[in-house]
Amino acid sequence: MENQKIVIANWKMKLGLKESLNLAVEMKERFKDFSGEAGVCPNFISLPEIKRIFTGSVLKLGAQNVFWEEKGAYTGEVSPINLAEAGCEMVIIGHSERREYLLENYEMIHKKLKAVLEVKGLMPIVCVGEEKDERKTNKRDFILVDQVNQAFGGLNIMENQRIVVAYEPIWAIGSGVAIEPSDCDYAHKIIRLALNELFGAKISNQSFRIIYGGSISSKNVADFVNLDNLDGLLVGGASLDAEEFYKVAEAIVGGK
Ligand code: PGA
Repeated sequence: MENQKIVIANWKMKLGLKESLNLAVEMKERFKDFSGEAGVCPNFISLPEIKRIFTGSVLKLGAQNVFWEEKGAYTGEVSPINLAEAGCEMVIIGHSERREYLLENYEMIHKKLKAVLEVKGLMPIVCVGEEKDERKTNKRDFILVDQVNQAFGGLNIMENQRIVVAYEPIWAIGSGVAIEPSDCDYAHKIIRLALNELFGAKISNQSFRIIYGGSISSKNVADFVNLDNLDGLLVGGASLDAEEFYKVAEAIVGGK
């Protein structure tokens, strides 16, 4: 799994049920000859139906959120087991939009991650990333290391467990302007060092992929393909069109 790149679509809350199913059908068709690893994270209500649509496709299904308990009186929440039952193979944890609008914090992210790691076959995609102000004041490195430590500290990670860390500088998301590729590479290096520190270089390299998210499109993806420390992309806006997402996927997973 080491160095195998991955591309993941995050459809957020941008599509209705019908729109989601239609796009899933288009994606399946567009990705029919794709041999890399690609995932699609639609809204909860579309999951079982899209699982059905993706039968026989290389595309994997993912969710955008999860709760940390297995079962119980937690109105409105969905457990990791439920996601696995719906056919999910990955789940985004702690996206910055949830941190902003739902006050999700890294204590919650840690609990979610721990619960997800207990479900075999469900790969967590843990989001980290600094705010614009934090960047301006040169706090980025500290913020990233702190987020990684809070999310992963104290967890027992096995060799070849599959975990993705998504570096998403908050100010680049949905802005139309991605971060400078060299900045991305640097931030990924910081995250990698924090993971090395926590788990040792061997487990860090074998089990963790570090991907970037924030205004990636077919127009700028070429600038990112050859970065040393980039293991893939998390794509929002550009994943809402099958052709556009395919171009991004082909560039990144086919690169290097
Ligand atoms: P964007 O979103 O590609 O639209 O900037 C990325 C994300 O939020 O995961």
